[in-house]
Amino acid sequence: MRTARWGRVARLLTTLAVVLLVGAGAVAASELVHPRSFAEAVPVAEADAPAVASSAPPAPVPSEPAVAVPVPPPAFDRGLRSIDDPNSAWVVVNKLRPLQPLGYAPADLVDVGGGMHLRAEAAQAIAALRAEAAAAGVDIEVQSAYRSFEYQQGLFGNATARFGVAGAELRSARPGYSEHQTGLAVDVGGGGCDIERCFGDTAEGRWVVANAHRWGFLVRYPAGSEPITGYQYEPWHLRYVGPELATEMHATGVATLEEFFGLPPAPGYAAG
Ligand code: DAL
Ligand code: ZN
Repeated sequence: MRTARWGRVARLLTTLAVVLLVGAGAVAASELVHPRSFAEAVPVAEADAPAVASSAPPAPVPSEPAVAVPVPPPAFDRGLRSIDDPNSAWVVVNKLRPLQPLGYAPADLVDVGGGMHLRAEAAQAIAALRAEAAAAGVDIEVQSAYRSFEYQQGLFGNATARFGVAGAELRSARPGYSEHQTGLAVDVGGGGCDIERCFGDTAEGRWVVANAHRWGFLVRYPAGSEPITGYQYEPWHLRYVGPELATEMHATGVATLEEFFGLPPAPGYAAG
């Protein structure tokens, strides 16, 4: 009896052991078919990428052929230099804009020959202009340059005696109101016509109109601008303002400094 019972227990234990062994084997077999390795958890693309991929420089991307985009020239800066300071190459002097101080005299006058002087920058420019004109067979002479307050006073007096006050005002500035007092204005002649309207019709006068801007000069009192400048046509009177401004005015066809800088016309002096 006792032996038979132990026999049943032994068979039960054996069965249980077999069940456990079979189960463990099934799990092991499953692991062999679907191994849970690290590599399996990494996406294929990442796993296939070379180990250095993350630190290597990016491959060059083919770009479109370069297309030239036109860049507009920068707008001319009208505020670059003072139009009030008598030492500025852009100073605007007219019947409403006297020199300040009235007795101003430049500090850097340079001899330009014939006992005449101009400010250094203007002197260099007129010499270069004359040299290029001469190379083209055009002989441009300097007739008048810097004029002091006192010298202008004498000229204005002579003009008044000759033409009367109204006639003088169209031809000559009062002392303290002349561009010649800045050391930046020069009267030129040639072609047998000096400081006369006929200069505008000479080869020299035409060359000046076409070329003076390249050295920074304007024909300051052009024909037809008397209501703005207050002076009759003076094809001989050149004013140095520098090549940038002179070239801009030439290119845009603006005839006077008053128009270029939006200043009021100055046909006459302020009352008083
Ligand atoms: N002839 C010019 C206007 C002057 O006297 O300055
Ligand atoms: Zn002049």
